[in-house]
Amino acid sequence: MATKTAIGTTSIEALLKEKRKYPPPKEFAKRANVNRASAYAEAAKNPVRFWERFARELDWFKPWRKALEWKAPYAKWFIGGKLNVSYNCLDRHINTARRTKAALIWEGEPGDTRTLTYWDLYREVNRFASALKRGGVKRGDRVTIYMPMVPETAIAMLACTRIGAPHSVIFGGFAPDAIRERIHDAQSTVLLTADGGWRRGGHVPLKKNVDEALKECPDVRTVVVLKRTGQQINMQADRDIWWDDFVKEAEAYCPPEKMDAEDMLYLLYTSGSTGKPKGIQHTTGGYLTGVYATTKWVFDLHDTDVFWCTADIGWVTGHSYVVYGPLANGTTTVMYEGTPDTPDKDRFWRIIEKHGITICYTAPTAIRTFMRWGDEYPNRCDLSSLRLLGSVGEPINPEAWVWYWKVIGGGRCPVVDTWWQTETGHILITPLPGVTTLKPGSATRPFPGISADVLNDKGESVKAGYLVLTKPWPGMLRGIYRDPQRFQAQYWNRYPGVYFTGDGAKLDEEGYFWLLGRVDDVMNISGHRVSTMEVESALVDHPLVAEAAVIGRPHEIKGQAIAAFVTIKDGTTGSKELMEELKGHVTKKIGALARPDDLIFASDLPKTRSGKIMRRLLRDIAEGKALGDTTTLADPAVVARLKDQYGEEE
Ligand code: WT7
Repeated sequence: MATKTAIGTTSIEALLKEKRKYPPPKEFAKRANVNRASAYAEAAKNPVRFWERFARELDWFKPWRKALEWKAPYAKWFIGGKLNVSYNCLDRHINTARRTKAALIWEGEPGDTRTLTYWDLYREVNRFASALKRGGVKRGDRVTIYMPMVPETAIAMLACTRIGAPHSVIFGGFAPDAIRERIHDAQSTVLLTADGGWRRGGHVPLKKNVDEALKECPDVRTVVVLKRTGQQINMQADRDIWWDDFVKEAEAYCPPEKMDAEDMLYLLYTSGSTGKPKGIQHTTGGYLTGVYATTKWVFDLHDTDVFWCTADIGWVTGHSYVVYGPLANGTTTVMYEGTPDTPDKDRFWRIIEKHGITICYTAPTAIRTFMRWGDEYPNRCDLSSLRLLGSVGEPINPEAWVWYWKVIGGGRCPVVDTWWQTETGHILITPLPGVTTLKPGSATRPFPGISADVLNDKGESVKAGYLVLTKPWPGMLRGIYRDPQRFQAQYWNRYPGVYFTGDGAKLDEEGYFWLLGRVDDVMNISGHRVSTMEVESALVDHPLVAEAAVIGRPHEIKGQAIAAFVTIKDGTTGSKELMEELKGHVTKKIGALARPDDLIFASDLPKTRSGKIMRRLLRDIAEGKALGDTTTLADPAVVARLKDQYGEEE
């Protein structure tokens, strides 16, 4: 194995030698929403006033009294203000020419398409909101959503915001245990799902997973089931109801709840450095202001744009940039249900051509996959409608960036590499495409109004260290649901009053940020966040496993791959079959996204004398690097054995 780092095929050293620069194309800059570099300085003078200007572009039932109250680690934005998110995404557009504009263009994997105008979406959301209310859902109740990428998922989310019931969307790739855990934590009694979804020509067994999960969720009293694939499923008479029956005769209009700016908008579970996912809490006024502002400026939205963010709605990117950001701006948003290789490897480019997409926002993993598939697929499609490209989720290596720029963008579309997190709610470090000179591999600079820094262990500003955010921003998380201690410990203890991101970063001489991946026990597998502990718990849950240690190792396409070192119980032998079984066990417990790529049976794991597993050594073994300091190791022979063995696995 070569010495590859967390950024695909590029080493950090090579990344920092990257000297290519791409100033904004003149024509692009001329008509951009922002084309003056002074935007940064103006925002920096008074960041709060800067955000207030965007907030004022939204519709409020009642204005805020005070824009910000900051008592670290808790921020309150737009105090006293009242608004409704669905009202801002729908009602305010239907009294304008946008009434008949496409709000949502959807394409199913089998090729079926639906276009909903703002008026259509408004009607559907109102009806579903009325149905939820009639079904007993009250303001403040948490509604769990486990659905495929279909318009009803966006409709359900918006309907929840209309009645002030926070949603908790669970990515459709999660397994029953993961669903159950999230339902329990959110104390949710209503679940929205579908029979299944289409994926690579097959059916995802959504309802079956739900049935399995709900065996231990006695509090869930209503399950609304959308018919999507028509596959055979079980309906439990006293609990399950078909979507169409649920909305039948629901009132056409549902008045929007007047929500407080600081009321919870949604919960979204994400992995942290323990085995238990964190319920990230987002609120109404600040979050909407943040996603509204960043969608408008980062993607340079114009009224004629057709915006496609390829993320699944089950992740924060889908929340912020498939649903809320684009719709708050009155943009046409595109949603696709399936995989990029169905029926052929040109599917994404066909979608762009067919719908005349102007802005495409996707992930480095996808870009690297497309690169490997070859130029013939994009080259056979007309991609001339594109004018701007985006990347998110993990560091993008310069090769992939330049390929994206050349082959997909035809050398005319700026590429915005956007850094942010589930916790941050919206994009924080990013180019402004009409202003910023791009450097492939760098997310460039903090968005206006955002203050970021790179610190060492002592809290001093340095050129390479930990990425932190030094001032509150409107979309920041307001806590971890029902776990304030963890919120404090995870983000605020390392540097008092400063938000710790968990990412490493470097600053170059022009003040550009180069993101270097996670510095904690969180892995980034194809842009999906998975904690090492979660996978370890899933492994030791298997009756034959005694101990497990999991690390992320560099992977050319996925960014990182999962390597699991497993010791099995005495009397068991580590066979190929057992290896498959254990990998399968993780899929069963968490979902395919957490399935280990490598599984190495170890007679022992390298430990310090105090018994702590030395992950750094495992990482070095997996990366094939020369081994670091082993003097604290209890039994150095363990490492030598593992190293030999890992070589054999390759
Ligand atoms: C982590 C957050 C942001 C929504 C999708 C992922 C990594 C994200 C970039 C980027 C380098 C990035 C970071 C971050 N990350 N974007 N442009 N360059 N790294 O959200 O699951 O909360 O993961 O993704 O490591 O901490 P998430």
